[in-house]
Amino acid sequence: MTKEATLDQLKKHIEDARVCPELADQATQLVFGSGNPDAEVVFIGEAPGKQEDLTGEPFVGAAGKFLNEMLASVGMKRDDIYITNIVKYRPPNNRDPLPEEKSIFWPYLLKQLAIINPKIIVTLGRHSGQAFIKDLRISADHGQPKRMKVRFTDINPDGERDDGVQGDNEKRTEPYGNTVTGASQLLTQQSASNLDSATSIAGRQVEMTLVILPLYHPAAALYDGSLRTTLIEDFQSVPTLLQETKKELSK
Ligand code: URA
Repeated sequence: MTKEATLDQLKKHIEDARVCPELADQATQLVFGSGNPDAEVVFIGEAPGKQEDLTGEPFVGAAGKFLNEMLASVGMKRDDIYITNIVKYRPPNNRDPLPEEKSIFWPYLLKQLAIINPKIIVTLGRHSGQAFIKDLRISADHGQPKRMKVRFTDINPDGERDDGVQGDNEKRTEPYGNTVTGASQLLTQQSASNLDSATSIAGRQVEMTLVILPLYHPAAALYDGSLRTTLIEDFQSVPTLLQETKKELSK
């Protein structure tokens, strides 16, 4: 099956399993992600805003236009990359995503990344960066790439009995080797409500090595002159980091 088809299946799974119904019920639609399923670079934002909720596409509003400009400045376009968010439904009134909402979507995001298998991941903003780098301080750490391992229990959206996830999906290993646990209870509850007819889920442990480049969020930088300059400067390192990572991987 192609990556595109596998991603479509995962998207359908999130909808059918009613992942995060609290947000789903208030949103127009799921904003799963868009772009090139074979992308070498994946950008990860925070959560959809109004325009994204209406169109179903991530980063189509003002922040998205700024992102497109920065991509053009390094010779890239949206078709080259894949872009998604930590949380995949719009939080009401654009409030910050809640920790439990981020935890609920975490295994689905990791599965999305496992399918695409990018060389580097660019996180946009604090929420996205801290999902991967727990003690990230965006003002100090922006523009500094980190390599890390993450581990999660695989989601099997193409199985016959695939309508739930196991409780420890969000366990992950940090670059420092700490194992972090998040909202296992929430995930268990989520699963329980969807698992009536399911027997078990593929419990395969997947481990991925990721290269994360934490950047400021374009929306935060849009109207702040000095953040804007910093973000544009940091952005210039994307192609270099990509080339270096590819070189490293080919050794
Ligand atoms: N901000 C985000 O974090 N994501 C979007 O998709 C749009 C704006």
